[in-house]
Amino acid sequence: MQGNVRPENMERITTPELADKFIEEQVSELREQIGDKKVLLALSGGVDSSVVAALLIKAVGKQLVCVHVNHGLLRKGEPEQVIDVFRNQMDANLVYVDAVDRFLDKLAGVAEPEKKRKIIGAEFIRVFEEEARKLDGIEFLAQGTIYPDILESDGVKAHHNVGGLPEDLQFELVEPVKLLFKDEVRVVGKALGLPDNMVFRQPFPGPGLGVRCLGAITRDRLEAVRESDAILREEFAKNGLEGKVWQYFTAVPDFKSVGVKDGKRTFAYPVILRAVNTKDAMTATVENVPFELLQHITQRITTEVENVNRVLFDLTPKPCATIEWE
Ligand code: XMP
Repeated sequence: MQGNVRPENMERITTPELADKFIEEQVSELREQIGDKKVLLALSGGVDSSVVAALLIKAVGKQLVCVHVNHGLLRKGEPEQVIDVFRNQMDANLVYVDAVDRFLDKLAGVAEPEKKRKIIGAEFIRVFEEEARKLDGIEFLAQGTIYPDILESDGVKAHHNVGGLPEDLQFELVEPVKLLFKDEVRVVGKALGLPDNMVFRQPFPGPGLGVRCLGAITRDRLEAVRESDAILREEFAKNGLEGKVWQYFTAVPDFKSVGVKDGKRTFAYPVILRAVNTKDAMTATVENVPFELLQHITQRITTEVENVNRVLFDLTPKPCATIEWE
């Protein structure tokens, strides 16, 4: 298999024809590497793991076992889309694990952001390990490592890495897109027939909505984040901002403020809107979202989302703020 250095003369995959050529080569290499053995993949539904899944389905079909862990911190509709695309449309061998209660129980009362991240990461490995132990004859572990992961971290970034598995579960790695840049992975994904909203989706942090439900996660605020995020995404799509703005999301802090509804005082959470543009996520500028659209989104969130009585728009670039709130 390929090494970890992209050859200087490797052609950039920019067209469907070049993607088809890459897919053809990879399919034959994957068949050779895997033979009649089984491969395991943690499938989040993000671009990289989805493209790896689609490539492996093409190469070895049901020898691939995809495990999709729903940790309760995914965006609205994401687990359903993974099941629909991979199980229903691509006929993949997909294990869906509903681990929502398990993650939320572990996270209950934990307010410190890095502690939350650690719990989410560790619990993910544990759930994945349990699923791996239920399966017989797995010899390979597929990962959606891409070239920037190798360049940036001299190895594999944590969110593409289930390397925290114990000794007796060390499988041989299969990393078919590890020499590709993100834009190339997207071209390949499109050529493999994955839906646009999967292939062109904005970056989403590994710990998911867990870092946007600020402080200790509660179910009511987590739902407020998920529902308000869905409204923001729907309105950005309707108004031509999807694919134009680099990253946009909502966050819900862990304090309430007073409001008024139907002549009665309310005491509820604010929703913070964030929409930023960047090249490398090291610095970012705020998207100039039309004021009328912000008003419309505010109107929708305050009427459609429970436990919310205020909407704020974050005007701060990075630096001095970061993109996420924690
Ligand atoms: P910040 O907030 O540091 O974010 O300006 C820069 C980019 O990184 C993403 N991000 C994360 N991604 N795990 C991830 O996989 C994380 O814990 C995490 N924190 C931030 C963020 O969404 C943005 O794209």
